[in-house]
Amino acid sequence: MLKRSHMCGSLRASHVGQTVTVCGWINTCRDQSKGLIFTDLRDREGLCQVVFNLEDSPAELIALARTLRREFVIAVTGLVRVRAGGANPKLATGEIEVVAQKLELLNAAETPPILLDEHDSEKTNEEIRLKYRYIDLRRPRMQHIMRTRSRITKFARDYFGLNGFLEIETPLLIKTTPEGARDFIVPARLHPGKWYALPQSPQLFKQILMVAGFDRYIQICKCMRDEDPRADRQAEFTQIDLEMSFIEREDVMDMMTGFVRGLWTELFQYDVGSVPRITYWDSMERYGIDRPDTRYGLELTDVSDIAGKTEFAVFKDALALSKNGRGGVVKAIRIPTPNEKLTRKVLDGYSEFAKTFKAGGIPFTKLGANGFETGVAKFCEPVKAELIAKLGLVQGDIVVFAADHYDIATKTLGELRQKIARDLAIIPEGKWNFVWVIDFPMFDWDDEGKRWVALHHPFTSPNPDQFGILATDPGACLSAGYDLVLNGSEIAGGSVRIHDMKVQEAVFGLIGLTEADAKMKFGFLLDALKFGAPPHGGIAFGLDRLVMHVVGTDNIRDVIAFPKTQSGMDLMSDAPGPVDPEQLVETHVRSTAPPLV
Ligand code: AMO
Repeated sequence: MLKRSHMCGSLRASHVGQTVTVCGWINTCRDQSKGLIFTDLRDREGLCQVVFNLEDSPAELIALARTLRREFVIAVTGLVRVRAGGANPKLATGEIEVVAQKLELLNAAETPPILLDEHDSEKTNEEIRLKYRYIDLRRPRMQHIMRTRSRITKFARDYFGLNGFLEIETPLLIKTTPEGARDFIVPARLHPGKWYALPQSPQLFKQILMVAGFDRYIQICKCMRDEDPRADRQAEFTQIDLEMSFIEREDVMDMMTGFVRGLWTELFQYDVGSVPRITYWDSMERYGIDRPDTRYGLELTDVSDIAGKTEFAVFKDALALSKNGRGGVVKAIRIPTPNEKLTRKVLDGYSEFAKTFKAGGIPFTKLGANGFETGVAKFCEPVKAELIAKLGLVQGDIVVFAADHYDIATKTLGELRQKIARDLAIIPEGKWNFVWVIDFPMFDWDDEGKRWVALHHPFTSPNPDQFGILATDPGACLSAGYDLVLNGSEIAGGSVRIHDMKVQEAVFGLIGLTEADAKMKFGFLLDALKFGAPPHGGIAFGLDRLVMHVVGTDNIRDVIAFPKTQSGMDLMSDAPGPVDPEQLVETHVRSTAPPLV
């Protein structure tokens, strides 16, 4: 085989006069019949033009050149010269071309089922792209994404390596982990009736690595959660997982802020600056969500006091509600002009949208020259002055309301806020708004189960000033958890952990985990905590989500080389598939599923 001397995409004017050998795939092939065949040869570094001169070349070379088709794999030796037909400014190699002297056909290819041309391939049905992923991945856009992903993991290894983090692998066949999703399970052939779980995260192992004295740990690891995939979720995804010893919350947050600042400088020469913080409750109040998108306004305002003075039954009924010691609320969003895109029809449609979040509807009105107009104007008119003052209304503004239990009204308006921003097309491009969300509640009340559930995972410590109320007022107790949010998406989450067995037992007690249950589930961690656990804490970045932001896609499948579909299928390898009945016997498994046809 001809020995490669250069990558196709690396050739420049400085190579003119050199004889080079390049290898790759034929991107395009044009027989000009003026005695020349032009091909664009592609490798992962880019394209270069290769010219076959039919007049000056040996007969075999010409004969072989004439057989070339798209995606054939070849090696070519030739002389680099200034492009005879004038430079192509669109190509990095556009100033030169390689005049072929030797050609080796390394492999032929069938006509590809997808076009590699960027414009057309984006329109190709995603199922076909996933089935022929190896061809889809040849596209420059996919090559760029995978290279960017690799740059990010390299940067993470370098940054955390320089900061003393050791890369340590944790097992994939484990006992269940506490991230709250459904486990993928694997039968244990050597232990009839017993099962491994695939890790939802390395949480327990990384804590144990701290007990073992490794002080700082990093792993770029696969996590498996058997939940329904969504646009920013896969059942199998990757975390940059970190844990640190002898730290407080600030130390972890500072280290991670340094990471994203460094990464954004490396990738975009962009200074992230200091990352603002918001408490969980403040975020819920202002944005109706615990992952606020701070790139635009449209903040929520509590107008319960004013709404209570109106005659509007929807407001009055909501305010009379009570749940978990919390009264109902009326919240509002002021939508300033220009807001013409929000026609009456669009505004009416918001009530349907609200119903998907269990809210009754979205009352609205608009401030005109002579007072409120449309919607619930007649109920708002008597409290006009107060609403104007509280919401800062000016003529032309629209106001939307949600009136319900605190959770429902707040979350519905939080979701609607994002929809309105999309509908108005006011989300700025090219803005990176990072926010740390802190002071999460330790627990959420589960109405059905009538018990507290840990909001993060049950190893999350209360904030140092909250230990006093852990037992007496768990609902008000705030945790030492933190999430890093970028443009409204959670890119990392973690916490300072409990390292004191007594506190751990108290938390298990509150979430209704008996000693026996806790021992069965996480006994090994509890044992380890007894043998000198240092104060420790950590975080995990969702690598796929990080890459999505960096490359600008809202489809998680775009950033994973071999992703699964919404229904968890790998269309290329056709997984999941049936197994040999022998394998079931060997692993002591009997299937209750109907026979496959
Ligand atoms: P958590 O469950 O918050 O924390 O996960 C950390 C980050 O992982 C990403 N992520 C996902 N990405 C794609 N698909 C999914 N299904 C998915 N689920 C989560 C998110 C999230 O912020 N062990 C703890 C971390 C810790 O406490 O240190 C954990 O796994 O970006």
